[in-house]
Amino acid sequence: MNLVRNAFASAQTKEKRDAVKADANRLAYHLMPPVGWLNDPNGLCEYNGVYHIFYQYTPGNPTGADHRGWGHYTTKDFIHYNEQDDPFVPDTEADGKGSYSGSAFIEDGKLHFFYTGNNKLPGDYDYINNGRIHWVIHSESLDGLTFTPKEVLLKNKDYPENLSCHVRDPKILKRNGQYYMVLGARTKDSHGQAEVFVSTDLKHWKYASTIRPEHDFGYMWECPDLFELDGKTILMTCPQGVAQEGILYENIYQNGWFEVDGSLDHDQTVKNFKEFDNGFDFYAPQSFQDEKGRRILIGWMGIPDADYTNPTVKANWQHALTLPRQLHDQNGRLYQYPIDEILSLRQEKMDINLGGGECIKLPSRVVDIDLKPVADTWAITLRKDVTLSYKDGIFTLDPGTSGSGRTSRHVKVDTIDQLEIFSDTSSLEIFINHGQYAFTTRVYDDASDLKLCVSAPMTGQIFTMASFEVVEKIEKSDPTLPSIKKEC
Ligand code: FRU
Repeated sequence: MNLVRNAFASAQTKEKRDAVKADANRLAYHLMPPVGWLNDPNGLCEYNGVYHIFYQYTPGNPTGADHRGWGHYTTKDFIHYNEQDDPFVPDTEADGKGSYSGSAFIEDGKLHFFYTGNNKLPGDYDYINNGRIHWVIHSESLDGLTFTPKEVLLKNKDYPENLSCHVRDPKILKRNGQYYMVLGARTKDSHGQAEVFVSTDLKHWKYASTIRPEHDFGYMWECPDLFELDGKTILMTCPQGVAQEGILYENIYQNGWFEVDGSLDHDQTVKNFKEFDNGFDFYAPQSFQDEKGRRILIGWMGIPDADYTNPTVKANWQHALTLPRQLHDQNGRLYQYPIDEILSLRQEKMDINLGGGECIKLPSRVVDIDLKPVADTWAITLRKDVTLSYKDGIFTLDPGTSGSGRTSRHVKVDTIDQLEIFSDTSSLEIFINHGQYAFTTRVYDDASDLKLCVSAPMTGQIFTMASFEVVEKIEKSDPTLPSIKKEC
């Protein structure tokens, strides 16, 4: 066992896990880290009937201020999960300061992983245009649990000249018998764009094209995902550095998609970026197609560098993954809605028929609330003091004092005839019109005095939700190994 792997193992002892388990905010039907910090979902795939959900993981520090590795859950039904050994930890020259985000690709019965190795050269560098390693690392697996040694496929010198060192988060698409790898990039003069590389064997890659916005759209694009859905090619990405415009782009960093029209072998410009989830806590989504042919997306229920907080840090954990959402295209809009497996968690059902000004008591924080508003102006108060309202064609989410610094978020919607709120202990995922729009946010209140009040008549149903079952895997640390000094 090397020192880094030992540090990962010793951060996740039974005692440390038990302390996290005692936290009243821990989630019931969302994946969260066993201890410490979680960010982007990585390597999502279904391989031989088993779903693999990897994620950016820093077990030793709930604020993420330590080097990232990958954590790993597997499941066959999205309800029962097995935690697996951490597959990649930052322990080589190529990824010594972070085994950053990446994806999985299945070909000829083999699982291929592509991710970004992050490292910093010692010296006086700006680490944007010099001094930083962002290399593409590859590893293979035949069982999803054991992995071949890390192999560097692309180095910064292989990227176009005009790029800064920030080129990361590879995702693969197969088209016309060739493989395309999309990477998020920042140019030397700070423009965000996506780079496309092409290969015929998944090992040797050459630069193919750049996808750039018609008008400047941020200084960096993170976590690109290029996929085909209902006859369209979609580029999802997370632009950083986009200024707020009215009720658009209200978060510090954005998440959303462009449609890509032509060949990936030629440069393209894209326009009409559409925001995907308008809540406070949504970033770095990644999608995959499962064996049933569903395009399933999971996002990070969190965001970097936000000015609102998560009290869970005090309990030695932070952030979670969103519910898996199935995507479809409807009239040019990407709809998203939790997969059927999540709906099967529904237990007790309560029908509701509320007049304006009426309240009922919620049975729990862990519920799915499905409402049918009829008026064109309304407000709903939920749990302690979260408000969802609709007025003049604008939907507003205001988490109130439960938001821990979160203010309000908005979206313009012509009509709302259905509103569904997947509420967990400390999160809300809100879907408007069966997934036309979504708002994901963390909320912190307690289990007493839970209510649902409406200002205008609404019918609907409330379901209590069962919890996920997660079987832990505790990696043994070696107490005889010296601990490593952490410097970021
Ligand atoms: C997005 C991101 C990625 C990077 C990873 C590091 O949240 O910054 O671009 O690969 O997180 O954890």
